[in-house]
Amino acid sequence: MSKIDDLMARGTELLGSDYAILCGAMSWVSERNLVSAISNAGGFGVIACGAMTPELLDTEIAATKALAKRNFGVNLITMHPQLFELIKICAKHQVGHVVLAGGLPPKGSLETIKTSGAKVICFAPTLALAKKLVRSGVDALVIEGMEAGGHIGPVSTSVLAQEILPELADQVPVFVAGGIGRGEAIAAYLEMGASGVQLGTRFVCATESIAHPNFKKAFMRASAREAVASVQIDPRLPVIPVRALKNAGTEAFTAKQREVANKLDAGEVDMAEAQLEIEHYWAGALRRAVIDGDIENGSLMAGQSVGMVSEEESAAAIVASLVQQAEAALRARG
Ligand SMILES: Cc1cc2nc3c(=O)[nH]c(=O)nc-3n(C[C@H](O)[C@H](O)[C@H](O)COP(=O)(O)O)c2cc1C
Repeated sequence: MSKIDDLMARGTELLGSDYAILCGAMSWVSERNLVSAISNAGGFGVIACGAMTPELLDTEIAATKALAKRNFGVNLITMHPQLFELIKICAKHQVGHVVLAGGLPPKGSLETIKTSGAKVICFAPTLALAKKLVRSGVDALVIEGMEAGGHIGPVSTSVLAQEILPELADQVPVFVAGGIGRGEAIAAYLEMGASGVQLGTRFVCATESIAHPNFKKAFMRASAREAVASVQIDPRLPVIPVRALKNAGTEAFTAKQREVANKLDAGEVDMAEAQLEIEHYWAGALRRAVIDGDIENGSLMAGQSVGMVSEEESAAAIVASLVQQAEAALRARG
């Protein structure tokens, strides 16, 4: 067994893949084509359910099954109003792995998923919550730092890894995400106790990704410093920051926050509705860029590793180069 296989063993056993490299769910991007390509390449693809209806998710899972020769997972957002119906759809298709994102799992969701026989993977934003999730019976954790693309927390990947891996890596497999662009970083996190990693940004320009050519070109041109976190403009309206490439859409988000904050002040919406409106805004803006190719006004969610994306390559080539770089780094350590 090579060193990388050894270090990834618990991750690959949990996922049923050759490598414990997840392609994190990316709304609009992580659909049947990319997800099956990643899994067929030996990694682990995850469908982004996002704001899909149960019917759409049903169709997407069936279509992915038709293309994938290996396991894949489904990512569900905990604040989705039909979360339990979505869980039923996953169970109907005997999806083996459900990833819960966007907040702590609501009461009963973990148990319902596990009853179907699926493994549950949750995002842990802090050590205290990670411990709580382990006690509640999650099968694995993802810890994601603020270098990542999309919705982010306030702490960097390297700090989260140092806080969480020594405490919990022997209890459940932990996958490290955020800012990973090369295999050397994968090797380092594996050596710190991670069972695997999750990447998003690095896979956006895979040949099999349906992201619009304009979206891919923006990624290939961008440097790390252009992937900036959104700013909250009104202290009364807490919004989860989103990391994206700077464009006119970045300014439009400021105007959107003002509009929603005014509605909140006027009593037209409550806080939960206000936050849901912000999330719907992001889903629409991301669609505009990923699907329609409007890279000026849409949202170009991207992580800081975007500077390491320079060409369109197959998912298999990306997975292979990440593995080669990680293996070489581990070999060099002796
Ligand atoms: C365009 C884009 C869309 C994303 N959408 C989602 C999503 O719908 N659900 C989710 O849990 N994470 C989402 N993410 C986060 C990824 O799943 C992954 O955790 C993250 O990209 C890893 O960090 P990296 O971008 O530095 O590789 C998204 C990321 C990007 C770049």
